[in-house]
Amino acid sequence: MSGSSGGRIPESFIESVLAKTDIVPLIQESISLKKNGANYSACCPFHHEKTPSFTVSQTKQFYHCFGCSAHGDAIRFLMDYHSLNFVDAVERLATRVGLTVPKDPHEAARMQIKHGTTSVLNRCAEFYAHQLKNHPEAKVAVEYLKKRGLTGLIAKEFSLGFAPNGWDNLLKSFQDENETFKVLEETGLIIKHASGRFYDRFRERIMFPIRDRRGDVIGFGARVMDKSQPKYLNSPESPIFQKGHCLYGLHEALHAKEKWQRAIVVEGYMDVVALAQYGVTGAVATLGTAITSHHLQTLMHMVPEIVFCFDGDKAGQGAAWKALQLVLGLLSEGRQVRFVFLPQGEDPDSYVRQYGAASFQTLVKNGTPLSEYFFATLCSKVTPDSVDNRAHLANIARPMIESIPAGIFKEMMYEQLAKILSSTPQVVRGEKAFRSFYSPKGNTRLKVAPPPQPMETANIASALLLKKPELFNVLMQKLPALSNEIIAPGMELFHGLINLLKQNPSALTEQLRKKLQENGFELKRLQECEKKIAIIPDEGLEAEFCGAIARLEVIGREQYTEKLLQKSKISELSDEEKTKLKEFLQIGNQFDS
Ligand code: GTP
Ligand code: MN
Repeated sequence: MSGSSGGRIPESFIESVLAKTDIVPLIQESISLKKNGANYSACCPFHHEKTPSFTVSQTKQFYHCFGCSAHGDAIRFLMDYHSLNFVDAVERLATRVGLTVPKDPHEAARMQIKHGTTSVLNRCAEFYAHQLKNHPEAKVAVEYLKKRGLTGLIAKEFSLGFAPNGWDNLLKSFQDENETFKVLEETGLIIKHASGRFYDRFRERIMFPIRDRRGDVIGFGARVMDKSQPKYLNSPESPIFQKGHCLYGLHEALHAKEKWQRAIVVEGYMDVVALAQYGVTGAVATLGTAITSHHLQTLMHMVPEIVFCFDGDKAGQGAAWKALQLVLGLLSEGRQVRFVFLPQGEDPDSYVRQYGAASFQTLVKNGTPLSEYFFATLCSKVTPDSVDNRAHLANIARPMIESIPAGIFKEMMYEQLAKILSSTPQVVRGEKAFRSFYSPKGNTRLKVAPPPQPMETANIASALLLKKPELFNVLMQKLPALSNEIIAPGMELFHGLINLLKQNPSALTEQLRKKLQENGFELKRLQECEKKIAIIPDEGLEAEFCGAIARLEVIGREQYTEKLLQKSKISELSDEEKTKLKEFLQIGNQFDS
């Protein structure tokens, strides 16, 4: 394959390549098509199916799958079917129709430099691999790999190597090559000492060459063989090695025996290699950094399914949620995303060694689908058991779902959200009325921690109490826990009602309304509040009321905590205040994600 330049190809050139291409024979080179009226059809190559729903239109020069919605033109087909990037796909098409992609001269120069660099790095990888086979001290390394369950075959497949002890092993092997020296320094394989002399970066380590999709080495990860630190050392960033873009195992996954259908995203080099050792191909790892949207974009173009594999611990949950947020905006039709959480203390490497490949594959196959993970996580953070909480949930979920590209999946996510909120998709999509009702500040946020929103709680509590004054009995039991200094919109109405009910605990709705108006609360104001609870069925009033009171309690506690914290900055707190603060801070922590 010719080098993918990444440079800009003129739009007009792309058009002429497409104009000269016929999509039908192009696709037929990869899968067999049956003529079916005006169109051609086949079983879809992008998802598993038994009856053909993949259709190719010659007149439109377009393909579309009615099963998984995969669709596109000739370029898209090459990209998705053959895992090519855009430039490579255009180049392949151009060659087919006898055209040459015009080259930007600057780009060509850059390519030459890159080519020089990768050829040096390829040689370094060969050097390290050679050491693993031949160096007199390589026995430690071989033993280490064996101990971790790896065979020579897999070491060869991943071109694992060995950097021996010593400051100049690599240096010596490139002696008298001035140009090469420059490249070694630029890519961090040798380091210049203050004295002006150079020395090897990697010493006494197992070497993991990191390759780009074509197989060219672009950097290294290197592991110690004992308990010393740092456990892993990576090549520093360089023009050809950007950790936010590269994935370990990509080349190997693309060139495994079977067509790559599922990317298993893991955390470590060793996870990728160990899985391959056990016959689980297609795993890729980030290079010790969090996953980025560049990584995800790369994967989305190459495979129809991504399975994220995380530790079951808190860090793993956090990382998974971040990955989910990134992946939402990239979910093109026909792409599947799943989440697997391993048992505490296990990583894919230890898991596959202990339980075997079949068990690991089962985990992967049964991974939680994105939609399920999304809603389960949200509901675990904000229980949709009250109007306020459902509103809060809607406000978190809506912008996230909104970021999904238009399509069936997005619609389904809205439907699911509606179900959870006992609402309709139209409403949860955020029609104007709903928005002003649930989000008076109009600020929708991505943050997941559920800060209790003071905005409507007091008004809702008042409206409920007004509608069903018997709830005052419930309130009486809870009053001691409620701070009477809560600052929230509507608190004066709430207090007004409580005072009336204290004077006359058996007052009815109409009496209360009249008294409230006498006390200066406008009828319009009361009606506004009543509207907010109009959708709550009678049998739900008490539960909603309890929920609202509980939230007021939290709001009061938070405000009091804040006050004490402020006070503690300027003066000493009393013992009682200190105890209270400690207690409140502990309760507060339960709400942190
Ligand atoms: P093993 O201990 O060999 O099983 O490693 P692992 O692959 O399980 O690694 P671990 O879970 O400890 O870390 C995951 C990834 O984080 C590694 O593959 C590295 O990319 C990176 N990493 C771990 N330790 C270090 C370190 O000390 N320095 C740097 N730069 N990266 C590290
Ligand atoms: Mn490990």
